[in-house]
Amino acid sequence: MSDTDHGFGNRGNRDASVVNPKGRGTVDGTRRSGAVQPGSGAAPFLAATALRGGYGKADILHGCTITVDRGQIAVIVGPNGAGKSTAMKAIFGMLDLREGAVQLDGNDISALNPQDRVRAGMGFVPQVANVFPSMTVEENLQMGAYIREDDFRQTMDQVYTLFPAVAQKRKQAAGELSGGQRQQVAVGRALMTQPKLLMLDEPTAGVSPIVMDELFDRIIEIARSGISILMVEQNARQALEIADIGYVLVQGTNRYTDTGAALLANPEVRRTFLGG
Ligand SMILES: Nc1ncnc2c1ncn2[C@@H]1O[C@H](COP(=O)(O)OP(=O)(O)OP(=O)(O)O)[C@@H](O)[C@H]1O
Ligand SMILES: [Mg+2]
Repeated sequence: MSDTDHGFGNRGNRDASVVNPKGRGTVDGTRRSGAVQPGSGAAPFLAATALRGGYGKADILHGCTITVDRGQIAVIVGPNGAGKSTAMKAIFGMLDLREGAVQLDGNDISALNPQDRVRAGMGFVPQVANVFPSMTVEENLQMGAYIREDDFRQTMDQVYTLFPAVAQKRKQAAGELSGGQRQQVAVGRALMTQPKLLMLDEPTAGVSPIVMDELFDRIIEIARSGISILMVEQNARQALEIADIGYVLVQGTNRYTDTGAALLANPEVRRTFLGG
């Protein structure tokens, strides 16, 4: 397997920031941070409101809003190219927004770059290229802890307890693992900074239904430990089953927002987005 083959097939490959070495678009991971501002008092734990922006001149997000409460699982679903990954990147600070704001835990963090958002409590597992394939599992987790100056051994043990299969492969190159185990490494890597909000872009991409169920169970376990989850999912039906709140995103706007159960029961949502 080559370093560019992540076992995800072709999904997410329209993200030119990942596949285009010339870096078309305006995703910028080197941006300097601005100041944290006080947020509006009553906001949910994560409140990303009226996001507008994209890559270059064309907007992809047209005012979409995503909120997640403490300990909640929020799920974003929608057709390919709807802007789900773009919304995640915007919330993580990889995209310069023309309008909108991101509040986390009562603070307006809109001016922070991704690295400082990690310090503020965000963990992000991108849709593609989310592990270093030539590094071992253990090295991947160590990389995940890059902002920590304290002893992260205990966090690593917690990750290994959560994902026993990858614990057994800690000395193996991540690229040699199965798709499901690589996704576990990616999630584990994001957990190494002890995030308060864990953002997952298609964590079950390219894995079997059994591995998907297993991964969802682990995600529920993470949420129960008090970490808020914001997850994009292609396995919409299964993901909405575990969602406290669900967002159907279409062309960069909110088409439906409701509890996971209500979206699953909505005939129009079922017909149009869940295959009947
Ligand atoms: N880095 C980029 N530069 C320019 N355009 C981009 C970039 N990344 C994505 N796009 C475009 O933005 C739109 C939304 O893409 P995005 O990846 O956010 O969709 P998505 O909902 O995550 O789709 P998928 O289900 O395929 O993952 C698409 O039209 C895509 O071609
Ligand atoms: Mg995507």
